[in-house]
Amino acid sequence: MRLAVLISGNGSNLQALIDAIEAQTLGAQIVLVVSNRREAYGLVRARQHGLETLYFPIKPYRERGQSREAYDADLAARVRAYAPDVVVLAGWMHILSPAFLDVFAGRVINLHPALPNAFNGVNAIERAWQAYQAGEIDHSGVMVHYAIPEVDAGAVIVQERVPFLPDDTFEQFAARIHATEHRLIVEAVRRLAEVLKS
Ligand code: GAR
Repeated sequence: MRLAVLISGNGSNLQALIDAIEAQTLGAQIVLVVSNRREAYGLVRARQHGLETLYFPIKPYRERGQSREAYDADLAARVRAYAPDVVVLAGWMHILSPAFLDVFAGRVINLHPALPNAFNGVNAIERAWQAYQAGEIDHSGVMVHYAIPEVDAGAVIVQERVPFLPDDTFEQFAARIHATEHRLIVEAVRRLAEVLKS
């Protein structure tokens, strides 16, 4: 399984994939790590493990008055050159249009720190915490799903509830969300490998 991993930030989920591959608990290789942010720490992690990286920002496209579809199409071409079987969006904070998604139909997966139809979009962990504080929910969760043009939507590959605990702090809750993500991202890639094999 050849993976391209798209990131925008810390890259702790990229690290979870790297660790599972290096521990040989995940039969895959990461052929490319892409970031749309130069300062993303995930790029440092990738280089530390000898992985190919690509920094590919949208800003030059905006400055030239080009569309996001133009950016997405060029990004797809750059990623496709590495012939990935699966594209993993692991904290990738740019909504991909069909100009990208159609190139890898059914093979782009996205990680999100909430359950389906709850807290789509940015700052999902913070918004779940606020809803808990307001007495509206008693759990949140994590999902990995097939990416579609709608934000944080699409058929779910794997999901897990993360309950709020008595005396929880936001930091403790966020840490449990992230720990869950690090397991589920690996599990989702394993499951997709099975699907693509059959
Ligand atoms: C993760 O919590 C991921 O679920 C979230 O960004 C974080 C990236 O962390 N993604 C989204 O919110 C997508 N809507 P990381 O850079 O440490 O892997």
